[in-house]
This record gives sequence, structure tokens and C-alpha cells, in this order.
Amino acid sequence: MKALVLAGGKGTRLRPLTHTSAKQLVPVANKPVLFYGLEALRDAGITSVGIVVGDTGAEVREAVGDGSRFGLEVTYIPQEAPLGLAHCVLIAGDFLGEDPFVLYLGDNFLVGGIADLVESFGGAGHDAQILLTKVAEPQFYGVAELGPGGEILALEEKPEHPRSDLAIVGVYTFSPAIHEAVRAITPSARGELEITDAIKWLIDHGYRVHSHFVSGYWKDTGRLQDILECNRIVLEAIEPDNRGTVDTLSEISGNVVVAPGAFVENSVIRGPAVIGTGTRISDSYIGPYTSIGESCLIEDAEVEYAIVLRDSTIKGISRLTYSLIGRNVEVTRAEGVPNAHQLMVGDHSRVQVKA
Ligand code: DAU
Repeated sequence: MKALVLAGGKGTRLRPLTHTSAKQLVPVANKPVLFYGLEALRDAGITSVGIVVGDTGAEVREAVGDGSRFGLEVTYIPQEAPLGLAHCVLIAGDFLGEDPFVLYLGDNFLVGGIADLVESFGGAGHDAQILLTKVAEPQFYGVAELGPGGEILALEEKPEHPRSDLAIVGVYTFSPAIHEAVRAITPSARGELEITDAIKWLIDHGYRVHSHFVSGYWKDTGRLQDILECNRIVLEAIEPDNRGTVDTLSEISGNVVVAPGAFVENSVIRGPAVIGTGTRISDSYIGPYTSIGESCLIEDAEVEYAIVLRDSTIKGISRLTYSLIGRNVEVTRAEGVPNAHQLMVGDHSRVQVKA
């Protein structure tokens, strides 16, 4: 069994971060989302992985390398433009050959791994297996309608009026029959070759398509609230580990990871939280569900329920919450008069100030 991991695409909903970097590399508990997927594939016994990359390919290659540190052999498959998930399967035809494979969307986050899914596919002789889960806003996903016996009656991609609340999760297993399907379908209204249409094609042509319910937690990390929630879920399970320097004036409670080379002085950290290598927390409060990346400076500030990427500074701010702060960002207090906010924010940014 091989795997095809999709790490191209546009990432419009996480702009401005995704103007300059891959959405699959946004960190959850200081580890890129994509790495959780690669580890799940490895834990399911898969070694041969193709990664589809687009404009941000260089950054993905730099982060993942040849895959050896995950115990994987990685082949990169460049995609000229984000032409759809089925287009990714189409261009990966040579890599996939006649092997069954897992299609894993690189921005999907699944707790509990995929070993069961891979194992059940191996023995069952299906041509496709999809994972489903109930969601509150099915219009943002592929949606399945099931019959009384669990058979798939209909599949629709982001329907305006969903017929059920069952979303298609971004982890699929396929037999080589999918190659015929992705060659046969045509682009959707949004101009993409949809994997949902290819699966529908399999059903319409008498192939065996099976659906499973996700037992654990699943999120598509494409939106701010989703990535913050994934961060919360992962942090809830961390073990405390202090390898940095924490002075005697500081107080750490709950599960907190302080990475080697991090420095905490005169501060309070209430976990769960992770503090990255080389980061300095000074005269500050770090509240629950917060991940501070490496080489940041948090000084005279209060931060909670947030993700801060590396090399950023937060200084003189009380209190920052429900926030995703990119790399190399400065958030500081405006001094003097007038008593006003001073902003220089990138395109497609969102700033909410408490006036
Ligand atoms: O997350 C689950 C959903 O994923 C499913 O419910 C939908 O049926 C499925 O179409 C997909 O919808 P999204 O709109 O969320 O897909 P997105 O455009 O975010 O792409 C998913 C991943 O694949 C993401 O890591 C980017 C990558 N990608 C996407 C496209 C369109 C590529 O590498 N190439 C592409 O051409």
C-alpha cells in the first residue's frame, strides 16, 4: 500500500499566513499539521509516500526532506496549479502504478491514526473507502447521503443545501480503479477535478465503495477556529517536560512543555502550553491552550488560547486571546498620544481590537 499526500493548493482561508507559506505547515503544538499525517501513515505500516506540492513546494521539501526521519520514502510530485484533488491522483499515476493507496489531505487532522482504515481496506476487496463524520456546517465539505443499510445514496461537493450532516473526511483508500475514474470526470463548477465526483463515478459504474464512520476526533485545519481547536486537542494530551530555564520567581502549573534553550522569568504559565526552543517569556502570563514557537519574545504580555509562530515578539499587551500570530510578527503597545491603535497588517489579515 502506498500513500498520496496533498500539500499543494491555495489556503485562502488562512491568509495572510498562506500568502507566504504552506497551510499544511501551520504548527499545532509546535509541530506542522502535515507531520501528524505523515506519522499516521507510517504508524499504519506505509513507507512509500508521494507528496503533491504546488507554489509552496520548496518549503514543504525543506520541512519533510526525503522522509527518512519519519521512516518514510518520499517522492515529490509537482502540480502546476491547484486543479483539484482528483487532478492530484491523475498526475500521480506513474508513482501510484497498480498499488492500492491512501489519499491523505495534508491539512487534515485525525486523532487516533488510520491503521484500522488501512487494515480493513486490505482485506475487504473494496475499490474505495471513505470516512464520514457528522459536522455542524456540512456545506463546507463533501457530503454523503446514506441509505437505511448504510449504503451510499449520494455524494455532493460543498452543496448549497446539504442532504445530510455527514462530511467526507480527507482520508480515503483506493484500489487502482480510481485511475479510470479520474480520467473520466470533467471539472466542476469551481474548475476543479473533484475527488467526490471520481468516487461518484466509481459507484455509478458498479465499483464497490464503502463508508466508515470516524471514531476519533477529526478536523480540516483550513480555518482559524479549526486550527486553534486542533491545538487545544493536542495540548490536552501533552505531558509536562521542562528542559528550559525557569527562574524561581516564575510559576508553572498544569501540563507545560518548555523546550531546551527556552527561558522563563518572572512569569506565570498555566498549561496546557508549549514554549519553543530559544523563546524568552519575561514578566508575562501564558494561559491554557497556547503554543509559542521557537525564538519568540513574550515580554510584559498576557497570551492565551493562541498559536504564535517562530521569531515573533509580543510586548506590553494585555491580553491576547483566540489568536494565530504568524512568523516574525511584532505586536507591541503604542506609546504616547493620541491613545490609538497603530497597525501595519498584511493583505487579508484580520485584527479585532477591544476599543
Ligand atoms: O477536508 C475534507 C474536505 O476536503 C472534503 O470534505 C471535501 O470533499 C474535499 O473536496 C476537500 O475539500 P477542501 O475544499 O477542504 O479541499 P482543499 O482545497 O482545502 O484541499 C485539500 C488539501 O489538498 C489541501 O492540503 C491542499 C491540497 N490540494 C488541493 C487542491 C485543490 C492540492 O494539493 N492540490 C489541489 O489541486
